[in-house]
Amino acid sequence: MTAKEHLILGIESSCDETAAAVVAGGYRILSNVVASQDDIHRKYGGVVPELASREHLRQIVPVVREAVEQAHITLGDVDAVAVTQGPGLIGALLVGVTYGKVLALSLGKPLVAVNHLEGHVHAVLLEARAAGREPRLPAVCLIVSGGHTILYHVNSEPANGASRFTYARIGGTRDDAAGEAYDKVARMLALGYPGGPNIDRLAAFGDAHAVRFSEPKMAGNPYDFSFSGIKTAVLYHLRKHRELEPEIEARRQALARGERSADALRALSSAATLNLVASFQRAVITNLVAQTFAATEQHTARSIFVSGGVAANSELRRAFEAESTRRGIEVFFPSRALSTDNAAMIAAAGHARFLAGDRADDTLDAEANLPLA
Ligand code: KG4
Ligand code: ZN
Repeated sequence: MTAKEHLILGIESSCDETAAAVVAGGYRILSNVVASQDDIHRKYGGVVPELASREHLRQIVPVVREAVEQAHITLGDVDAVAVTQGPGLIGALLVGVTYGKVLALSLGKPLVAVNHLEGHVHAVLLEARAAGREPRLPAVCLIVSGGHTILYHVNSEPANGASRFTYARIGGTRDDAAGEAYDKVARMLALGYPGGPNIDRLAAFGDAHAVRFSEPKMAGNPYDFSFSGIKTAVLYHLRKHRELEPEIEARRQALARGERSADALRALSSAATLNLVASFQRAVITNLVAQTFAATEQHTARSIFVSGGVAANSELRRAFEAESTRRGIEVFFPSRALSTDNAAMIAAAGHARFLAGDRADDTLDAEANLPLA
């Protein structure tokens, strides 16, 4: 007899994506709808919290409806509603939490609160399982996105006849998140918003050893990160190389005309700019790889997970794969679609909590700084 596959409706609204998904049995994605707000925040070069909340309010109902329709189910078929409680922008979180609460209450279904960071961990577990691979625990998970750069020790313990995932924080950024550094450097160089994907494409055409960046030196926790220094180093580099100003202006005008493709921006970029971008990226990735593998050894973890928007980066994936082969430890990434914020990962994390017996009720509050551990 096969166990019943529970259907979880996941809802995510922590930052600038309104998302809803239906996931069966914790890993089978029946629908995964993401309404991105990039077009709204682009002209400000970053997420504007007030605009994000307003847009979530506009999108939440149609996005959930779309997720249910695409899954070919009705809301009545859902076994539980899982919603992101935090961390994130408070006004943005409130939209999802309030809607999730009302929905669960009106359907008479259980409500499960999920930590957004835990969602990124489950993006990895979900897809590994869907591919028939069960990652060995304990794992070290690097969550690297526009809002976070953080290392967790991930394990599981028995709970309620199922298992409960446990998380312990190993280290994290003391200033900017890695994705934030990508976005700020892209802004300085007029390479579009969000900056990560274009830097990813352009860096492939530059010499990553052309510009030297010093490694961040930090006292205290050796697993902490710092990316504001490298961002400032790029700024100083640009102050010293005024000859790059005309091409930055040309790209700015191209962006204003809506010419945002990586190819269009590359055509307006000199070798010096491509080298700078490649060197910046190399410095960030070298640091992420070194610290993650060091933490893995220190904690004798059996696998590595890398998740979050920056995990979509091709050079980062290549660098992690290479080091993983060299050291003989398996590394897992979500697909690119599940690397960035989505609700399938929230439904998957919610499924594990649902089985472990966790339930939230109508007193659930959004928490901007909700810690995972
Ligand atoms: O996980 P995510 O969608 O949202 C946050 O929780 O922040 O991550 C968005 C971040 C942005 O900073 C974006 O520039 C970065 O992920 N990003 C990338 C790539 N794709 C997205 N960074 C580097 N390379 C990429 N291919
Ligand atoms: Zn995220």
